[in-house]
Amino acid sequence: IELLAQPDEVQVLPGRPTAVWRYVGRVLSGPADAMQPVPDSYAGPIFRFRTGQKVRIRYINRIPQPSIVHWHGLIVPERMDGHPRDVVPSGGEHVYEFEVRNRAGTYWFHPHPHGFTGIQVYGGLAGLFLVSDDEERAAKLPAGERDISVVLADRSFDRANQLVYEAAMGPGMMGAMTGFFGERILANGRPSLSFPAASGAYRVRLLNGSNSRIYRIARSDRKPLLAIASDGGLLGAPASRPFLVLGPAERAELWIDFHDESVGARVALVAEPLDFGGAGMGMMGGMMGGMMGRGMGGGVGPQSAAPHPFALFTVGRGTGRQALPSRLALLASVVAPQVSKRREFAITLGHMRWGINGRTFEMDEVAPYEQVRFGDTEVWEFSNRTPMMAIPHPMHVHAVQFRVLERLDTPPGLQGLRAGLLDGGLKDTVLVLPGERVRVLLTFNGFAGLFLYHCHNLVHEDMGMMRNFLVT
Ligand code: C2O
Ligand code: CU
Ligand code: CU
Repeated sequence: IELLAQPDEVQVLPGRPTAVWRYVGRVLSGPADAMQPVPDSYAGPIFRFRTGQKVRIRYINRIPQPSIVHWHGLIVPERMDGHPRDVVPSGGEHVYEFEVRNRAGTYWFHPHPHGFTGIQVYGGLAGLFLVSDDEERAAKLPAGERDISVVLADRSFDRANQLVYEAAMGPGMMGAMTGFFGERILANGRPSLSFPAASGAYRVRLLNGSNSRIYRIARSDRKPLLAIASDGGLLGAPASRPFLVLGPAERAELWIDFHDESVGARVALVAEPLDFGGAGMGMMGGMMGGMMGRGMGGGVGPQSAAPHPFALFTVGRGTGRQALPSRLALLASVVAPQVSKRREFAITLGHMRWGINGRTFEMDEVAPYEQVRFGDTEVWEFSNRTPMMAIPHPMHVHAVQFRVLERLDTPPGLQGLRAGLLDGGLKDTVLVLPGERVRVLLTFNGFAGLFLYHCHNLVHEDMGMMRNFLVT
């Protein structure tokens, strides 16, 4: 496959087209359905592969900045993972060759140059990488037209319909500390999506492709959501949630069945405002805390007051009922695992800069506590206790799919949100709420080498809230 990152113009809002950067691809050999463009959108093409397939992708950088592609959630050799030290200059290229090892799931790809990931993703560089396998096939999930992908992202536009990034980050340093919150929520690069839905079941894959924004997603009719998969593929069994909380880079797959609805009924998926301000700050207290809580909250944008229906389904006639399997996949037990080591990674704030254990990113640096042995199973605890400023951080680890073991110390004001978290199944990104300690179980049996772990709030990542770890 040839994959270009290039400048382009697309129609996002009525009126003037918007200048964007986008991924454009071409299948040079192999199955033609390995790649499918998203029409009328800046969104990158959707890759579709099967576990075990071999992939060669020639990436050509035609944007005016150094860049490199990372396959988020995929387990690939270190030189194929899109580490920032492998950036190619504008005009340069990089050849990726790997075998798809992951199980079926909704993965994605995006740029990963140090310091410029946020602006490049914001400019439009991101796409989905869908993997299928035999276990998924056996679950007989809705396919074809009934397998829908929705990438959520927030953007701000100026009067000429052009994207605005830095300026919308909020006043001065403080804005940069919370992140970027766009004024509009887009779905697949459009203000909203409409689907003429036949009666029966749909599989809806959701990716939060935003730089910083966390979504609370619910059905317009308040019926519960049925989740069937998270970051790393199918859950053991479907999980019902009154709403879903999805942090940057997290994925969730829903089973939506319209057979109960009458013909002509309209059901929307809605992104609702999510306010961390009061609760998170109240717990932490402090002068700055109070200020931030009033000023801009953590994780909410100033414009997010109104719920936004981003996907609208109008129910028509159809083929009737499709049963949701009660068991979806076989997952290893996380009870009493053999753990070689426990490590703590504290989110820290020093000199107005987010870090991990007091350190920020250095291209080749690995601290002694960042070295793990190939094959080992470890427990990593991410703790989010920064008294001066309490906001959520979506923590991501490359080269593994992990399991969430426990979430400790959730402040009382945030307990309600836990009903919407999807901690089951395999994960590569976990949202750590203010005040919390979250323990995850990881087995480093993918590849040896130098990989990244970081906060996926891209403003934080770009300012250095990212570190290497070395698997030897
Ligand atoms: Cu989605 Cu290190 O990235
Ligand atoms: Cu990643
Ligand atoms: Cu962060």
